Amino acid sequence: MTGHATDRPWLEPGLPARDRVEALLAEMTLPELVGQLHQSANVDPTDPADAALLATGAIGSTLLASGALAGAERDEGVDRARVDALQRAATSTSRLGLPLLVARDVIHGHRTIAPIPLGLAASADEDLVADVARRAALEAAADGITWTFAPMIDLVEDARWGRVAESFGESPLLTSRLGAASIRGFQESGRLAACAKHFVGYGLSRGGREYASVDVGELTLRNHHLRPFRAAVEAGVHTVMAAFSDVDGIPMHSHRRLLREVLKEEWGFDGVVVADWNGIGELVEHGVAADLRDAARLAIEAGVDVDMVSGAYHAHLAELVERGDVPRDLVLDAARRVLLLKVRLGLLDPGCPALPGVTPVEGSRALGIDRDLAARAAAASLVVLKDDDALPLAPPAAGTTLLLTGAFAHETTGLLGTWVLDGNGEEVVPIGAALRSGLAGLAGQDSAGSLVVDTGGFPDVTLRHAREAGTTIALVGEHPWRSGEDAAVSDVGLPHGQLDLLRAIAGVAKRLVVVVLTGRPLALGEVLAVADAVVLAFHPGTEGGAVIADVLLGRASAVGHLPMSLPRSAGHVPISHAERPSGRPLPASATGRGRYVDSPATPLLPFGAGATGLSYGPLRLVDGPAVAVDGGTARVALTVTNSGDVDVREPVLLMMRDEVAEVTRPLRELADLAVVDVPAGTSREVAFTLPSAAFGYHGRDLRHRVDAGRVVLTAGWGRPDESSVGVDLV
Ligand code: NOJ
Repeated sequence: MTGHATDRPWLEPGLPARDRVEALLAEMTLPELVGQLHQSANVDPTDPADAALLATGAIGSTLLASGALAGAERDEGVDRARVDALQRAATSTSRLGLPLLVARDVIHGHRTIAPIPLGLAASADEDLVADVARRAALEAAADGITWTFAPMIDLVEDARWGRVAESFGESPLLTSRLGAASIRGFQESGRLAACAKHFVGYGLSRGGREYASVDVGELTLRNHHLRPFRAAVEAGVHTVMAAFSDVDGIPMHSHRRLLREVLKEEWGFDGVVVADWNGIGELVEHGVAADLRDAARLAIEAGVDVDMVSGAYHAHLAELVERGDVPRDLVLDAARRVLLLKVRLGLLDPGCPALPGVTPVEGSRALGIDRDLAARAAAASLVVLKDDDALPLAPPAAGTTLLLTGAFAHETTGLLGTWVLDGNGEEVVPIGAALRSGLAGLAGQDSAGSLVVDTGGFPDVTLRHAREAGTTIALVGEHPWRSGEDAAVSDVGLPHGQLDLLRAIAGVAKRLVVVVLTGRPLALGEVLAVADAVVLAFHPGTEGGAVIADVLLGRASAVGHLPMSLPRSAGHVPISHAERPSGRPLPASATGRGRYVDSPATPLLPFGAGATGLSYGPLRLVDGPAVAVDGGTARVALTVTNSGDVDVREPVLLMMRDEVAEVTRPLRELADLAVVDVPAGTSREVAFTLPSAAFGYHGRDLRHRVDAGRVVLTAGWGRPDESSVGVDLV
């Protein structure tokens, strides 16, 4: 051990992490402890005020973001040299020389952009989601980023809410699995911390309005909304972010019961709880704190460790402790968590690549783009909602035309989606150009017909082209600006004007294929009625244009499944497959009419829908129906067949219904899923093994329980080849 290391045992990588942290805590003054809890945006060491704060150890982390709505705005991009200069200032000018946590919202990619999370969820593919996160972590870490605010694991049932784009959809199980996979991918290298957000219930914002209040009881939280967070903690997530919303009148940034008692004490989460942007300051706007000082007290008591940008901790926490209004132990506990994270990320190890000058690191640009990964992810995210033998497209015969029309025809950045801070539209091949080169490859002859590409800017011209074309492909949907944070809509139909033009096109087109690019499930009833084929593309990322062209031409297959129910209208949301039964269920025959006098109450298309490359044999019990409540296992299996001529990798979903329980249970919920590879022309067995705990739930006393009784398992729910078996828990 060197003399230097003996003086500063926290720099000794050979010592246990907790010992290193305790040694450091013992050295720190109260202002230095509070400093670890203060996160300031875009700290700039050339700014005299920031430099002074860095020199006194008053800043523990920085967030590189354009502002409160970073997901919808571009900044100048992250720059490795600037991050290095910042870390150099933090480590060389302060007494203890502690580096900063450098945070940025790396959501569905850093330079290589995958589809938005809702699109990734359509693949239901944990391996793919982990691959996307692993690549994002590699690229982000190359730029000196040590903390990303992802994954978002809010459960969403309301398509009006803009943030559904950032989610994995409405299923607790799917969100839990994909959230955990994403965390594993982000954190695998040990250099980047993930953040499970937004804790908790944010997806229930009243009316789908951003930042609005939430009414939900603890039973529903435990049986639904808390489940992905529990899975995230079990996956080892380093940080959790508090939600902007309240729960039943208590803003989450002051929710001691859920943050401190459930997350930290009951679940044993020993990572960092971070505020959302000015979330502590907003306790004043919520009307539960008189001023910023009061807000700081409420938040630290509730268990918020790091104050993102409000400045409340920086301004008031030390004084609150000195006056005895806040126990010093609360500050110590919060600082302990932050420092443990810094140790876990290797930030205090000699030679840490996040530190400047140790190993020269080239920024992420040197890594290039992983186009194969982006293409694989984009293809897996596409959902075929309808295909009356219109796909794949044949190249236009000599003397005929194929029309591609719509505002997305030449779009590049518009394919990337919300929350793309460092992705570059110049890397994207637009759908029009991709289709042109795809056709050239297929046709390979001079006599072939031609492709006409227009944006629909002159509708009369578009209609003329559509009348002449053998097939018209219409690209419709919403720009990423219409999704993401603070982008709620009151009408979940296509944006203004698009349906009018589409109706007119349908009136003259010989064959109509519609591709819907979107950040949310849209009400597509009329689109489905007039089109021969409809492909749903959640904003698909860097390779989205190329992959959409490939799917249209049959060079890739789209087998995604809806991760959120498709509503008939805004009047039908919130809506989910996991609704609980009422005392007056509708008869199965009531398909045309529901609880609305003017419309069926069912989704237009439910969770899990999507054309598939597989046919299903009957679901069967492998070991018989009896399963011991205590530690037993249910095993079921089915045979799936790919009779097509393209290999398929596709999720098979297993749904369940617990018919009698202590509290009302969902009419159906996802019990398990398997993503299977089935080569063209082959069959394979898909087996599911479910421990009895998979049939459990939180009961009247809020505790988890597994009951004796019957649970029905269903494969192929909603498909013509749907089949079920009963399992008896005994
Ligand atoms: C506000 C958003 O709610 C959150 O998801 C994001 O991580 C932060 N801003 C930081 O940009």
